[in-house]
Amino acid sequence: MTMTEHKPTISIVVAALKPKYGIGYQGKMPWRLRKEIQYFKNVTSKTTKSNGINAVIMGRKTWESIPKKFRPLPDRINIVLSRSFNNETIDDSVIHADSIENGLKLIKGKNVDKVFIIGGGEIYNSVIGSELVDNLLITEIEHTDPETVPMDTFLKFPEDKWVKQPKSELEKFIGEPVDENITEGDYAYNYTLWTRK
Ligand SMILES: NC(=O)c1ccc[n+]([C@@H]2O[C@H](COP(=O)([O-])OP(=O)(O)OC[C@H]3O[C@@H](n4cnc5c(N)ncnc54)[C@H](OP(=O)(O)O)[C@@H]3O)[C@@H](O)[C@H]2O)c1
Ligand SMILES: *[C@@H]1O[C@H](CO)[C@@H](O)[C@H](O)[C@H]1NC(C)=O
Ligand SMILES: *[C@@H]1O[C@H](CO)[C@@H](O)[C@H](O)[C@H]1NC(C)=O
Ligand SMILES: *[C@@H]1O[C@H](CO)[C@@H](O)[C@H](O)[C@H]1NC(C)=O
Ligand SMILES: *[C@@H]1O[C@H](CO)[C@@H](O)[C@H](O)[C@H]1NC(C)=O
Repeated sequence: MTMTEHKPTISIVVAALKPKYGIGYQGKMPWRLRKEIQYFKNVTSKTTKSNGINAVIMGRKTWESIPKKFRPLPDRINIVLSRSFNNETIDDSVIHADSIENGLKLIKGKNVDKVFIIGGGEIYNSVIGSELVDNLLITEIEHTDPETVPMDTFLKFPEDKWVKQPKSELEKFIGEPVDENITEGDYAYNYTLWTRK
């Protein structure tokens, strides 16, 4: 018997500081936004399929930036990419692969609902132009003085190729209401959903 599995939706999830779309500094996030972390956890964990699970895909450097006690990210299959990894299932929650495509092959048959590409810069920028990605979930951040925020990693966002959807579409996709214009310290931000033009 063959069961054809539905191809999971693939979304980039990124928090970026406007106007330059900065995302990282010295291997870490440039900021600590408590509610944004909660949002990320909710969005990437929540599934609509019964007995389903979501997968997160990240580069080796982003994996290493997560403190040991917090990784793998719980309740999600963690696919870690490195050019020196064999395509290998480490355990129920960690997969090593040498490309996104090979990582995706290794989750076939695991009842995966949604797939999220969670960074970092090298991974985002290599896939944002590819047909593989269906959605962008961008947390658009503003700062009272963005030039004072140190950053060395940036999202190359081809804005003309994507369309921002109304908040209602984001809420439908993630299955929960979202706040607007959230403020934490000198930062203000909004959660957004973009689809291809
Ligand atoms: N703001 C956000 O939402 C956000 C989210 C995530 C991360 N970040 C930040 O982004 C920064 C890290 O980004 P990064 O660009 O330095 O590193 P990264 O994208 O996390 O990881 C890069 C590594 O991934 C592997 N890799 C990249 N492309 C690959 C491919 N096509 N196939 C197989 N493996 C591949 C390589 O590992 P090997 O060298 O082992 O081959 C490469 O060195 C940190 O500052 C982090 O905090 C920000
Ligand atoms: C995350 O989910 C919890 C539990 O469903 C909810 O109370 C909270 O408001 C959500 N937070 C965000 C930022 O999405
Ligand atoms: C991973 O899988 C792909 C395709 O199945 C293969 O071409 C590649 O050589 C594999 N990589 C390793 C290190 O085994
Ligand atoms: C959004 O938040 C910023 C900073 O707190 C504030 O200046 C602005 O008036 C707010 N805008 C709306 C529409 O609430
Ligand atoms: C967030 O959205 C509000 C209202 O839609 C807007 O006034 C504000 O400028 C936005 N803030 C950011 C950081 O995008």
